[in-house]
Amino acid sequence: MLITGWNRAGWMDQPARSGDRIARLIGAAPGTVVMGDTLSIKVYQALASALELNPSRRVVLSDTGNFPSDLYIAEGLLRSLGEAYALRTVAPEDVAGALDETVAVLMLTEVDYRTGRRHDMAALTALAHDAGALTVWDLAHSAGAVPLDLAGASADFAVGCTYKYLNSGPGGPAFIYVSPTLADQARPALSGWLGHEAPFAFDPDYRPGRGIERMRVGTPPILQLAALEAALDVWDIADIHDVRAKSIELSQAFIAAVEAACPALTLASPRAADQRGSQVSFRHPEGYAIMQALIARGVIGDFRAPDILRFGFTPLYIGLDEVLRAADILAEVMVSDLWNRPEYKARARVT
Ligand SMILES: Cc1ncc(COP(=O)(O)O)c(C=O)c1O
Repeated sequence: MLITGWNRAGWMDQPARSGDRIARLIGAAPGTVVMGDTLSIKVYQALASALELNPSRRVVLSDTGNFPSDLYIAEGLLRSLGEAYALRTVAPEDVAGALDETVAVLMLTEVDYRTGRRHDMAALTALAHDAGALTVWDLAHSAGAVPLDLAGASADFAVGCTYKYLNSGPGGPAFIYVSPTLADQARPALSGWLGHEAPFAFDPDYRPGRGIERMRVGTPPILQLAALEAALDVWDIADIHDVRAKSIELSQAFIAAVEAACPALTLASPRAADQRGSQVSFRHPEGYAIMQALIARGVIGDFRAPDILRFGFTPLYIGLDEVLRAADILAEVMVSDLWNRPEYKARARVT
């Protein structure tokens, strides 16, 4: 199968087939999403193509809450384009007011990785378009967590990973969406052979493939795509609106229980459920040690520097009993200072 599987098992088309299944979850038409690489690479591709489609402008606008990799990727890309290009970051609530005639691309992560705060994708995309800018949306913390409507919002580019709420497993492939109105104009910056119009012609000159196909780069990760396919099967029976409703129920219950029992923890997420994704975060100066104490007791969340305890709510496999039990364990950790031990304070490489 090493050689024959590409035809016999249809592996070469797998990035588009899986992309179509993701498309259904993010409000995109079939044929507008393709899988591959990791999210940082997809951010680069989307941003580079968007900038090239808006050649008279030089500014990428983002917010200070964006995931650092997105900002680093933007910085690196802009450096290679020359000194005239700049990345401008503003506070999340100031994005709309910062959209001026210099902005080429508005690049945002829809759900903030630390606080869970959610941008209004449709409203900001409309404002960006009014200001003459294109949009790149990072859906890492949105896809599989909240209902999305990329087509309805007229988003230009979107990217996301599949190893969070889509459960593809560590290092699972990322996705990229390009609006059908732009897909045949967008020029790929990473012009790899599998984005070529005819890869097996082995032509020395690059000609971009049709539509979203041109956003492919190199050999697709077939084993990771197989894991993704299995993970996506659940969406044949689960409705994202039901998942969202349950996620809100779980997260509201968690906030109420934690606030009642743990006054030392400060809610870092928006209180209004419609303004956050499917995560709830609390702040505490000893957040790292508290999270390690929780993990040791089977309540598994993340710590995000400098002081955020992040809890993801995944109704596909977590129910109310577990959420309330997690809140009880957190209360016990806080009330009895169970976190205050040297082994919980020693920082591991991955937090
Ligand atoms: C919002 C966001 N963007 C980008 C990334 C980077 O993704 P990757 O490591 O797959 O390149 C992450 C990773 O968690 C993320 O949360």
